[in-house]
Amino acid sequence: MRSFTENPNHDGKRYFDGACDAMHKIGPGSFLISPGDFDPPSANRAVIDKYLGKDFPWYLVVGNHDVENATFMPWVRAWLKQSIPNVVRRGTAGSHLSLYSWDFNNSHFIAIDSYPWAIPGKSGKVDITEETFKWIEEDLKATHKPFIWVTGHQPIISIPDIDTGRHRHDKDSVSTNPETAKRFIALLEKYHVKAYLCGHTHDVSVQKLPGGLWQCDSGHARGGGDTGTPSSFLRLSADSSGAKVEIYRADPTGNLYKLHSVIKLD
Ligand SMILES: [Fe+2]
Repeated sequence: MRSFTENPNHDGKRYFDGACDAMHKIGPGSFLISPGDFDPPSANRAVIDKYLGKDFPWYLVVGNHDVENATFMPWVRAWLKQSIPNVVRRGTAGSHLSLYSWDFNNSHFIAIDSYPWAIPGKSGKVDITEETFKWIEEDLKATHKPFIWVTGHQPIISIPDIDTGRHRHDKDSVSTNPETAKRFIALLEKYHVKAYLCGHTHDVSVQKLPGGLWQCDSGHARGGGDTGTPSSFLRLSADSSGAKVEIYRADPTGNLYKLHSVIKLD
């Protein structure tokens, strides 16, 4: 939703507020994950408060536009320092604290930070460090939940939008080193992670990667503010019959969201 919280123009378009309104009407689930680039965070939180409720849990995953933003990172750090609902483990000392895990019912979630060297005010190189790999593996070893989900900002493999074919950030991955990205996939597959949830491209895709790991890119929730692809959100669920993702997409004005498709993650 970055930069498109509520539309200040009177042209009939809605931005992130339209997506939250739709989530409220469709059934918002138990919590919201924003896989990065959620600035301005306080204004977007106010919209979540309005449509989903003041106590609605919101899990943040830092994106490139968050970690390099000196104005917004203090808000993010303050959020990360407070009591994260159902938190299991917090990240490495000296990091942005934005590596953590939490449980919900039958599922375990890990939020990763792939900008270990970012300094607010400067852009940082994307990568996954040895320390982060160690942390993720220890966390994966420790969980006994039947469904494991890992979320980060950048896709492992950038995939075009399912409807428009738009392909942004087509060379981007979780690391500038292709071998590191391969190692990340192998680690997630070793521990039977169901899916990697990401953003960054603003394009929606849900696809099984070679090797069996699903990648779900949620696209953007800017409503009518981003005309390149329809605004969207994903609703994930998992029970004894398996896991699935519902893709919701908006009309060009960001007012009307409809179920686009349901994909079984098997
Ligand atoms: Fe991004």
